[in-house]
Amino acid sequence: MKVLIVGSGGREHAIAWAVAKSPKVDKIYCAPGNAGISEYAECVAIGAMEFEKLAAFAKEKKIDLTVIGMDDPLVGGVVDVFEAEGLRVFGPRANAAIIEGSKAFSKDLMKKYNIPTAAYENFTSPEAALEYLETAKMPIVLKASGLALGKGVLICNTLEEAKEGVKTLMLDKQFGSAGDTIVIEEFMTGREVSVLAFCDGKTVKCMTSAQDHKRAKDGDQGLNTGGMGTFSPSPFYTKEVEEFCETYIYQPTIDAMAAEGRPFTGVLFTGLMLTEDGPKVLEYNARFGDPEAQVVLPRMKNDIIDVFEACVDGRLDEVDLEFEDNAAVCVVLASAGYPESYEKGFEITGIEDVNAKDGYHVFHAGSKFEDGKLVTNGGRVLGVTAKGKDLVEARANAYAATELVSFENKYMRNDIGKAIDEA
Ligand code: AMP
Ligand code: GLY
Repeated sequence: MKVLIVGSGGREHAIAWAVAKSPKVDKIYCAPGNAGISEYAECVAIGAMEFEKLAAFAKEKKIDLTVIGMDDPLVGGVVDVFEAEGLRVFGPRANAAIIEGSKAFSKDLMKKYNIPTAAYENFTSPEAALEYLETAKMPIVLKASGLALGKGVLICNTLEEAKEGVKTLMLDKQFGSAGDTIVIEEFMTGREVSVLAFCDGKTVKCMTSAQDHKRAKDGDQGLNTGGMGTFSPSPFYTKEVEEFCETYIYQPTIDAMAAEGRPFTGVLFTGLMLTEDGPKVLEYNARFGDPEAQVVLPRMKNDIIDVFEACVDGRLDEVDLEFEDNAAVCVVLASAGYPESYEKGFEITGIEDVNAKDGYHVFHAGSKFEDGKLVTNGGRVLGVTAKGKDLVEARANAYAATELVSFENKYMRNDIGKAIDEA
């Protein structure tokens, strides 16, 4: 069969790698793709938001299944455009992707269906938000309701900071219209875990757990980034926690979406905080995590095409998801200065040495070919994933592998997966 993947990051590289392993697949296209993805897929110069062009391409090439990796096209309705053309596509429609596209929607959904999450209020007027803050307990969390590249969340320790935050989000519009509505919610503490789950509208099947490291510097210091590394599984996500989440969070979420006339098909990503009062939902995403996919997919035993098709056809109940009984760590190699300003265009060497080893994968995020050479082309450049029998071994393997890859201004965190020492 022929598969089209939409997106251009490390996550889409991991998806393309998993798809390429399927014996059912004989041709992969990726729009727009990246240098690493071009090893398995023909990359085509169509942007992820060019829905009509994507659908026309899928028709012309007789694509059997399109997989959408990114959030923006899902929230914007790319699946609806494909379905209207009679094309098979994996991902939620716009009316279900809203679970990521509007935090105000997802908070109201959780409240209505008693799904555990932080107490909150939604605001569309800055005056009302400021008035509410006057009597609120600090610290407090302010969130732009719309898509903000994972950066629209402000943790405010004082009333002054919180008032400044309302200004940033609602008046200065740092995240554009994403801040037209904001969620103000209770500050929680605890371990964070990411759980990705396949869904077919009725059934939900969880993948193995993961945790990412969002801050730029060691010890969770520095600015928020798109993710500096991940590990899987999370030792804090015990069998007991998993059972609680299955009963009170994942299935109720999928049932709630179905009851609202918004059946969710695709990958539901639940960001959890394991608080003293039990697991609570921090956020939902409507797609694989990046860089969670880079540690979860290499551990999956199933043929990913079988799982995608079962989701699209509404028969996920027939699938048993299986994961290797090991661990994986992904260390992101970034350009020094990320997420602020950084230089690019430096030659990258050594990737083949990592990929030649069994259980190791370099996933590309920001690289390109220039005059026949692979060069850096973004803030996050590569994700170096290694497996091991446990997290300690996987971490040692991943860091050893990062030594094999070189480029000028290479920057990484040195403590990815360190939290596991406390488990
Ligand atoms: P989100 O995009 O909603 O997952 O938020 C991004 C990050 O902000 C999370 O990964 C948490 O580290 C932090 N965060 C979000 N909501 C809260 C909360 N209610 N209490 C404490 N930290 C939070
Ligand atoms: N790693 C967080 C995300 O993909 O949103």
